[in-house]
Amino acid sequence: MIYSRIAGTGRYLPKRIMTNSELEKMVDTSDEWIRTRTGVERRHIAAEDETTSDLALAAAEAAIENAGIDKDEIDLIVIGTTTPDLVFPNIATLVQYRLGIHGCPAFSIEAACTGFIYALATADKFVRTGASKCALVIGAEIITKLVDWTDRSTCVLFGDGAGAVIIKPSEEPGIISCHLGADGQYRDLLYYPYGVSKDLCKAGTGDARLMMSGNEVFKVAVKTLGSVAEEALTANGIDKSQLDWLVPHQANMRIISATAKRLDMPLEKVILTVQEHGNTSAASVPMALDVGIRDGRIKRGQLILMEAFGGGFTWGSILMRY
Ligand code: ACO
Repeated sequence: MIYSRIAGTGRYLPKRIMTNSELEKMVDTSDEWIRTRTGVERRHIAAEDETTSDLALAAAEAAIENAGIDKDEIDLIVIGTTTPDLVFPNIATLVQYRLGIHGCPAFSIEAACTGFIYALATADKFVRTGASKCALVIGAEIITKLVDWTDRSTCVLFGDGAGAVIIKPSEEPGIISCHLGADGQYRDLLYYPYGVSKDLCKAGTGDARLMMSGNEVFKVAVKTLGSVAEEALTANGIDKSQLDWLVPHQANMRIISATAKRLDMPLEKVILTVQEHGNTSAASVPMALDVGIRDGRIKRGQLILMEAFGGGFTWGSILMRY
């Protein structure tokens, strides 16, 4: 049996940091409200001329170095993002070109905040079937360009960034299981109202801004993420006490705490970046994974559950040994 296994990780965060006190000057909010309701203390914001492929490329270079591979070994690139540079060519081809590699399949997957989980689950299938020997998987997002900076109910939540992993075949696990799901009946609770075939409109003009029914999203997210975690454990006959780390999507500290509680996991066993990064959509899970690995908390062989939930709704989990 061939598994895919993480060979290296990397992340990139834009230079500019925006604190809660800056937001206090922009909208009617307070550091105290943002911290207690969301856990966010600061977030990184991409520069005006920075694109999602800039962030993705920097994260990819860090992961390539960390894996100790030659970039020419990469034979597959999959990127989860909802905020690509262009409609086409797809962002993975842009990153491929900028890495200076040619010929391998390169494509993107759009599943909002679950984008990286969908991308890694897809790349895992290529590696398991022998179609890829070295895959680059990225979650990258400049979601703040879709945010209305006068809307206090959304602008305090988000940040930008990119996280990347290199996966390679291994006889030892590796990725044990991937569970993905979606339910379009919830499409109106979290969405961006314009697109290519529907009234294409420049972000930041008119009502072209991220729309979210926060409270409703919160309730479905807590319920779904709890069952997603249980689904992964049950499918593999693994008891929650065996988990070493939870690496969750970093949308809201209260959602993360609720999932950890359902798994009987103390917060010491959860990789938390929401305070520093805010909600970076598809970038949040791979960046949190990279943080936990690079600071030495996540060790080789440990059992890790990654999970995410986002617009659509989409959701998913990946259970793996690092
Ligand atoms: N500062 C101060 N007050 C605020 C702010 C703010 N930034 N935002 C809202 N409020 C007010 C509201 O107006 C409301 O006031 P009222 O009681 O006078 O009407 C009050 O705070 C409570 O508002 P709620 O929306 O009920 O606050 P809630 O506790 O639900 O927290 C939040 C809001 C943080 C958005 C929460 O609902 C949440 O995290 N939702 C989930 C977000 C998420 O998980 N998204 C999924 C992924 S995102 C993606 O896929 C792109």
